Amino acid sequence: MTDQSVGIDAIEIHTGKLKLDLAETFAPKMGDDPGKYTKGLGLYASSFPDTYEDIVTMGANAAHRLMDRKGLEPEDIGRIDVATESAFDHSKPVSTYIAGCLEQVYEGDFHHANKGERKFACVAGTQSIDDAYNWIRAGRHRGRAALVIATDTALYARDDPGEATQGAGAVAMLIDEDPDLVELSNAQGYGSADETDFLKPQQQFPSVDGKRSVKVYLARMREALVDYESVAGDIHPDDFRLGPFHTPFPGMVRKAAVLAYRHITRDTEIEDDLDDQIGRQPRPEAFDDDAAYMDALGDYTDKLKDTDRYQEWYDRTIDPTLSISREVGNWYTGSVHVARVSGLKALAEDGEDATGQKLLVGSYGSGAQAEIHVETVQENWLDEIDALNVDEQLEARYDLDFDEYEDVHDAHNFDEERGVEEFRTPDEEFVFDGWGRMGERKYQYVE
Ligand code: COA
Repeated sequence: MTDQSVGIDAIEIHTGKLKLDLAETFAPKMGDDPGKYTKGLGLYASSFPDTYEDIVTMGANAAHRLMDRKGLEPEDIGRIDVATESAFDHSKPVSTYIAGCLEQVYEGDFHHANKGERKFACVAGTQSIDDAYNWIRAGRHRGRAALVIATDTALYARDDPGEATQGAGAVAMLIDEDPDLVELSNAQGYGSADETDFLKPQQQFPSVDGKRSVKVYLARMREALVDYESVAGDIHPDDFRLGPFHTPFPGMVRKAAVLAYRHITRDTEIEDDLDDQIGRQPRPEAFDDDAAYMDALGDYTDKLKDTDRYQEWYDRTIDPTLSISREVGNWYTGSVHVARVSGLKALAEDGEDATGQKLLVGSYGSGAQAEIHVETVQENWLDEIDALNVDEQLEARYDLDFDEYEDVHDAHNFDEERGVEEFRTPDEEFVFDGWGRMGERKYQYVE
């Protein structure tokens, strides 16, 4: 094996241009205490697409900004992979639409580029990065980079419990040799099983068993962690500066983080140090049956969560990864990549030099599969993070009232007759421009 360095060279984020305030606008209409959203789920707002936005426009706009910023032309890109759970066609991949958009604004074309669409719920964005990594390390890339775009409109049926966790946005990532942002580990861990927690059988809005999904997320993530350790050795909490995890809502990550911490502190000096305060972790051999062991484990975890040692680790390693998610909701395939950006952005804002620091990245897709890998922050990371304009985008969103929210939600239900006026005027971006004769969606670049 060579020591070729491959990873994420650049990232751009495009958020849907509308916002639903969960505490101020949504909670009162649902008859809920705002604390259910802000404290329980950890969410303040959701991003929504304007009437002319969809997975193609959001993905193309993120990719366009990325290519312009990095001075790239189509000839520099050897593959375009789109990860999405919101595709509107069973045959023609979203990447062809996005390439078509980009060809409107660049002189060259993407005819040479291998294009595809990856599906495995929210883990597909990470799988597309893996595909690009493998393509480069196999030497098939001819010096070119890969464009990976995770784009979703994560809308749930009205009155579904998941309605509180909606969101819409895209993350475009350039995967290349000698990356400027993070290098990817060769080692990976997987936890994968046939599960029924979230699915979309020929329907736009998902069927979700949210409570089950929480359990499956935790079980598969644990498997992936154990599998990762089997190839890379035991993990210690101090090994990692940040832990960006898939974030369907920040409360999910809060649940996962304490379990991960318990796992990675077993048989370490941290378990020894906490012995006086909360005892040692229960071991299965000390119990007659599984139920008693699980109860003891639950009690220990509750106590662990309240220790200063755990809280300090959580505040330093996990909390910074959740800040953008709190304002945008779930972006499905883009969610873990938003978490990575949030965390690095927080370090940049604190003036910390993160070069050489490690990230423990946990991706998850319902159905279900988790993947753990490690990333190493690269020398030019700060330039990449400073170049983002995500704060400006979040600030510029139109704040929907409840009636407007209902209209926008309906307008995105694959409804060809869009009765809703746009809320923000498009400016130097790709927009949805109606339907073609074969039922294809059409797009144009607005100057
Ligand atoms: N103050 C503080 N916390 C509050 C509260 C208040 N006033 N009211 C409720 N809460 C807490 C609850 O205790 C709960 O936290 P806990 O799970 O730690 O106990 C949390 O807020 C959510 O409340 P809950 O009653 O469980 O919400 P819900 O039944 O309406 O649905 C989900 C929550 C997560 C199941 C639902 O939003 C969902 O299905 N989301 C989609 C998940 C998904 O898409 N998964 C697939 C991708 S991973």
